[in-house]
Amino acid sequence: MTLRIKPTDRGIAQAADLLSSGALVAFGTETVYGLGADARNAAAVAAIFEAKGRPHFNPLICHYGSVEAAFAHVEAGPVAERLADSFWPGPLTMVLRRRVTCPVALLAGAGLETLAVRVPAHGDAQRLLAAFGGPVAAPSANRSGGISPTLVSHVLAGLDGRIAAVLDSGPCRVGVESTVVDLSGSAPFLLRPGGVNLEALEACIGPVGRGVELAAALASRTLRSPGMLLSHYAPALPLRINVVSVTADEALLAFGRPLPGARLVFQLSEARNLNEAAAKFFEGLHWLDSQAPLHGLTRLAAMPVPETGLGLAINDRLGRASRVG
Ligand code: TXA
Ligand code: MG
Repeated sequence: MTLRIKPTDRGIAQAADLLSSGALVAFGTETVYGLGADARNAAAVAAIFEAKGRPHFNPLICHYGSVEAAFAHVEAGPVAERLADSFWPGPLTMVLRRRVTCPVALLAGAGLETLAVRVPAHGDAQRLLAAFGGPVAAPSANRSGGISPTLVSHVLAGLDGRIAAVLDSGPCRVGVESTVVDLSGSAPFLLRPGGVNLEALEACIGPVGRGVELAAALASRTLRSPGMLLSHYAPALPLRINVVSVTADEALLAFGRPLPGARLVFQLSEARNLNEAAAKFFEGLHWLDSQAPLHGLTRLAAMPVPETGLGLAINDRLGRASRVG
């Protein structure tokens, strides 16, 4: 049985003690729930891969309580400093070269010379990181390939009994994962659109490379983000995206006025607000996936979402969720 811990002072101390003992603790962040372990403890990190069923070549993000703590483990240049000033604590992850003295288990970084680091903004995550006092490796708290969790119930649906505890921090405010930017090469490169808009990133540091087709990326450079390869966020039911009409067997993920004829609808944002849609996005996928069969529906369909602001992250997740294999 997985303990469900309230984020009181006592609860935070208990969660930090569990981390210190090498146990796995899921915790809320502003993006999605993370599945945390002491990043310096190789056995604890290995247990994350085990609990998630995650391939070992896919590296984890390390979470820190402060910019100083994060940059003590990686080589941060002026661009990283500027991004940290603007976006930390917050939904941004930077991939940087590990310092030789970095104590994070190599397994956490899947053996790469780089490490993904982030300082989350969520109050409970900050309190947990402060109480624990070390780096916490944490992927999203779902089984590998599944839909990311934005509620405690999502975490427990996938991992109950497989992890020691979950810190109950309520719903996640941003709702999509952090933006991942690679600063280890000659120019900044967007590995995953997420909670920090590309527009805001570029306003801060200038042009950020992106959108290279995976095949071209693989041909021209070493594989920079192993997770990009995987099918992700997959609901159990097949998903069609950018739909302009629904068929009789489809449940609808709506953005704005729902398409006519849908018998089961999850509304991301009636007012077509992208921040609201991002916050509800994974909840919508979880909900439709579980409810559609009860209504005799066998497929999911998603209305188009504009490719601006958080729409970039939503469309990235929709694209992966709709891909088979
Ligand atoms: O918002 C988030 O980022 C959440 C919360 C819990 O912080 N975490 C999260 O972790 O989404 P995860 O493991 O689901 O996604 C991390 C992504 C993966 O695609 C992984 O391949 C990539 O970051 N990544 C991690 N370390 C990397 C590295 N050293 N180089 C390139 N990509 C890396
Ligand atoms: Mg994930």
